[in-house]
Order: sequence, then C-alpha cells, then structure tokens
Amino acid sequence: MKISVIGTGYVGLVSGICLAEKGHQVICVDQLSTKIDQINQGISPIYERGLNELLTKNIHRNLSATTDLNAAIQHSDISLIAVGTPFNEETQAIDLQYIEAVSQAIGGCLRHKSSYHLVVVKSTVVPGTTDEVVLPALEQSSGKQAGQDFGVGMNPEFLREGNAVEDFMSPDRIVFGGMDKKSTDLLFELYSVFKGVDKIATNNKTAEMIKYASNSLLATLISFSNEIANLCVAIGGIDVTEVTGAMHLDKRISPILATGERITPHVTTYLEAGCGFGGSCFPKDVKALIAYGEKAATPMPLLDAVMTINAQQPYQLIKLLKKHFPELANLKVALLGLAFKPDTDDVRESPTLPIAQTLIESQAQIKLFDPIFKHLPDFLSQMNITLCQSLEDVITDVDAILLITRWPIFEQLPELLAKLPNPPLVIDGRRMLNKNTISRYEGIGLGKS
Ligand SMILES: NC(=O)c1ccc[n+]([C@@H]2O[C@H](COP(=O)([O-])OP(=O)(O)OC[C@H]3O[C@@H](n4cnc5c(N)ncnc54)[C@H](O)[C@@H]3O)[C@@H](O)[C@H]2O)c1
Repeated sequence: MKISVIGTGYVGLVSGICLAEKGHQVICVDQLSTKIDQINQGISPIYERGLNELLTKNIHRNLSATTDLNAAIQHSDISLIAVGTPFNEETQAIDLQYIEAVSQAIGGCLRHKSSYHLVVVKSTVVPGTTDEVVLPALEQSSGKQAGQDFGVGMNPEFLREGNAVEDFMSPDRIVFGGMDKKSTDLLFELYSVFKGVDKIATNNKTAEMIKYASNSLLATLISFSNEIANLCVAIGGIDVTEVTGAMHLDKRISPILATGERITPHVTTYLEAGCGFGGSCFPKDVKALIAYGEKAATPMPLLDAVMTINAQQPYQLIKLLKKHFPELANLKVALLGLAFKPDTDDVRESPTLPIAQTLIESQAQIKLFDPIFKHLPDFLSQMNITLCQSLEDVITDVDAILLITRWPIFEQLPELLAKLPNPPLVIDGRRMLNKNTISRYEGIGLGKS
C-alpha cells in the first residue's frame, strides 16, 4: 500500500521505516528540511537500535522523505499523523495545535485529490480528538465529506523508545479505530503484513482511550513501587528490592506453568523502585488524562497521586546525598545518565534534569556521563555541567556518584570503584548495583537499620 507518514519524530520515523521494511511504499513528511535531508542521506536524526540499518536498506527503494505534504498526499492512499501532542502547562491541557495544523494542511491537499484517502491519527490524543477535532478540520479545509470522500481512523502507537524498532516490527497488539467499516478495513489491510498478532478494531474514541489507560497503568505501578520504597527508607531495616522481588513471585503476576517453570513478565520491571519515570509519554499522557477527566467532571485522584509522587521522586537522591553531605556547595558530584532511560537519546522529562538543576542552585560541581552523548544537548550547554567521555573519567575525583539512568555500562561501577584509593559515595537511583559490592552505598528504597 502507499502510505504517507506526517511528522518524522520518534514515532513517525520508526513507523515509516518499519512499514517500508514490511513492504509498503512509504513517504515520510516533516516540516523540518534538515531532518528530511538527513533521512534522504540515509542518516537517522534520532538514535534507536537497528533503525539506521533499516533506513539505509530501504531509503530510495520503498522509502522516501519530503517536506512537500501535497505531493505525499497525492501519491499515497493512507496518511498516518505522527506529530507531537505535548502537554501545555499554562492551559493545563493537551496541546493540539500541531494536530489541528496538520489536519488543516492535509484537508487542503485533499481538496485537489479525486480518489478516496484515509487519514489516521497515530499521535496520542485524548478521547474524542479524532472525531471532534481532526475530522471537522479535514472536512472544513477540503470541502469534502468524511465517510464518502475520505475516511478517518485512529491507530495508537505502543512502541517503547530504546526498543522502538523491535516493538514496531513485533508488536504485542495492534489497535485501530475507524469512523466506519471502510476505514477499519483499510487499516486491517495495512497491518495484514503483521501476522499472528492480536488486532483490535474499534471506534476512534475507544482506540484513543486504550492508549491512555495503558500508559496510566504502567505509570501507576512505578509510582506505587516508589511510594513503598520511600516508606521502607523512613521505617529503616527494609530493603524495597526484597519486597518487590517477593511481590513479583505472586503467581497472579508471574504465573507458574504446569511444567513448574515460572514466567517472569516484563511488567515486573514497572514494579520496581527508582528515581521516577520520564520521557515524552508517561508524564504528559497521565497529565493530559487527568485534565481530560477534570473537563469531563470526573477528577482522577489516583492519577493525581501518581504524578505527585513522580514529581518528588528525583529529589529522593538529593535527600540521600544530603544525609551524607549536608552542605552541597562545592561538593563534587558525578551524574550517571542523562537520557530518561537506556538505549535512547531522549532527555525529555528525564529525572537528571531536576537533579542537576537542584545541584547547580546549591553550587555543587557537576560532572556527567551518558554513553549516548558526545556533546551536551543545546538547552543544557549554558548550564555549569562538565560532560565526560567515559565512566572512568566521571567517577575520578568526586565526592558522590548519583546513578540515574539504567545504562548497562554502569554495572562496571563496583569494579572501577574498587581501584580508587578513596571511593566516593554511590547513590543508586535505579537499584541496579549489588549493594554489597560497594563500600559506601545508598539506594532508593534501601531502609538502613
Ligand atoms: N516517543 C514515543 O516513545 C511515543 C510512543 C508512543 C506514542 N507517542 C506519541 O506519538 C506522537 C509523536 O511523538 P514523537 O515523540 O514522535 O514526537 P516528536 O516531537 O519527536 O516528533 C514530531 C515531529 O512532527 C513534526 N511536525 C510537527 N508538525 C508538523 C507538520 N504540520 N507537518 C509535518 N511535520 C510536522 C515535527 O517537526 C517533528 O519532527 C505524540 O503524540 C506522542 O505522544 C510517542
């Protein structure tokens, strides 16, 4: 099938490249010509494991990129909208300006198209957006009628940054909504190249809600684990990793098969304490759902608490640091990790940001190492942070190390620290190290006796 993907960020680019790999003819569209030039040169503007290889394999074969939206619409049968849907802190609601603008623009192109076209929202949008914002905008700017001249669908994306290619190529489920049977039939056809996966066809509103409910559940598990962790520290004598480890063994969480073998589902990784969730999805999506609930006169106190706990969680590391160093001025601190999670270069809502901000305000001296960053992102370049190029470098001559991102390379820490004459304090924000292998160790949820 001929597909255009509008917006080539994490979701749009991965979707476009993977759909091309699956055999569709794909045109990626973005308004940023620098991104488009890079894509056409076979260089991925973002880091995702395996993405660049698939890009170089498919570009100029079944994949192309352009800033020309009209050409893309005229030469495709289905358009996937994958523009950003940030949360607007001022209005305290999802910001649909990019969705509205792109819907208007696509409608303008449909005005000059004689054949049927399906427009599908892949961005995460609050329930009702596809039918009540996108569809009317398309009708208004195209002068055509939805259901007759074009269709409208909704196809939420569940990929996880860091595993995006694998998640897209081998999805756990494919959900799509459609305004009518013709729309969902076309989506079935688009995804028919994905064999043996559960496909859920529903209406647009339900598809939108499935995405929010899914993200909110996982965010809730994380904040729940963190709340328990903080209580363990307050009580003392309890290590949360023992608590959550035993919880994982509940057979309703990790079922035991008839063979006696136990399955450990991936969901257990969300039932672990840490310094909070970040990224471009969980924080903004949970906040958008809360705001949506308020608008629908249905407050969401559980999700409110999830966000409150999460906003405080990075500061648990500062609290542990102050336990050992009440005065932070001139303290030499190494921060391990800038990306909000491993295997990505996405720093949006990373817990490292509030931690670094607090340390800078307290006049601590900060060194930072993240294996994906050779330079600090522009928005951090004005901050007084020294970026190191190796783990050895960042831990040399510091008073304390704050481990924030679960990069596997940080497992080398105990070995490297053992070589130092005066090893610094280590505060493990992800509980990824063995506490017995480090002389001066603190961790989230480690309630000391
Ligand atoms: N990042 C994730 O892991 C993830 C996972 C699932 C769902 N989502 C959702 O997918 C959507 C996109 O997220 P993202 O992280 O890929 O966003 P992003 O900000 O990385 O990318 C959005 C892209 O859209 C482009 N764009 C904006 N307006 C445009 C227009 N009018 N015409 C052409 N291009 C335009 C921007 O230039 C940018 O390249 C969001 O709704 C997000 O919530 C993201």
